[in-house]
Amino acid sequence: MLQKFSASLAIALAAALSQVPAMAQDIEAGRLKAQACAACHGVDGNSPTAVVPNLAGQSWRYLYVQLKDYKEGRRENPLMSPMAQALSRDDMINIANYFAGQKANPSTFKADDAKIKLGKAKADETLCAMCHMAAFAGQNEIPKVAGQQYDYIVQQMLDFKARKRTNDAGNMTSVSQTLSETDIENLAHYITSIR
Ligand code: HEC
Ligand code: HEC
Repeated sequence: MLQKFSASLAIALAAALSQVPAMAQDIEAGRLKAQACAACHGVDGNSPTAVVPNLAGQSWRYLYVQLKDYKEGRRENPLMSPMAQALSRDDMINIANYFAGQKANPSTFKADDAKIKLGKAKADETLCAMCHMAAFAGQNEIPKVAGQQYDYIVQQMLDFKARKRTNDAGNMTSVSQTLSETDIENLAHYITSIR
């Protein structure tokens, strides 16, 4: 009886221990796969181009869902859709964890103080924090937007408003209907400058 118990304990312990190196390998596998993304997103997920989003420090869960959506056609983009086609489920999980673990650099966009103020007031009024959390830090499947590229933020908000991006279960589509183009510009000045 005692012997049987300790044998199953040993198996459980061995299984628990084998999880540790397996996880480290996943991130290493993700780092290697992410070399295919570096030209556009930067080696560490800090994008060198304002129209390409930063991935560094983003929630892994959100990154994974987006890759899956590009692959399965729920989100479409001529640059990203073909990139996602080549990825397996494990690749997506590994890559998402690699980028989630990278340090996000602050935005270099020269935001305007008056627009930041108006943008923050609009964010408070529209209750963006209800989903995106305080200071757009994000959680699980809801993206961090703090410090994101200015041009990318504006483009996504316009795409939600025009119903060109529809993989948001209606959340952003309805929020963005209430926003004018000036509101979107002010919001983007505010959000990109959050550190
Ligand atoms: C040729 C340039 C290019 C390459 C290479 C590329 N991407 Fe992208 N990526 C983009 C652009 C542009 C967007 C924004 C597209 C849009 O508006 O939907 C994007 C968007 C994304 C998003 C959505 C981010 C968000 O905040 O919603 C993820 C995730 C992503 N890319 C991951 C990857 C991964 C992983 C790779 C490598 C396997 C990769 N990308 C390779 C250009 C690229
Ligand atoms: C009811 C919940 C909810 C509210 C309120 C909300 N969002 Fe979102 N937002 C989401 C979800 C969910 C996504 C991701 C959708 C997806 O999976 O494609 C998102 C995505 C975004 C994106 C795209 C990020 C990226 O990396 O592509 C931006 C920008 C954004 N939201 C800005 C805002 C702003 C600004 C406000 C307030 C004016 C706001 N959101 C209010 C739920 C919300």
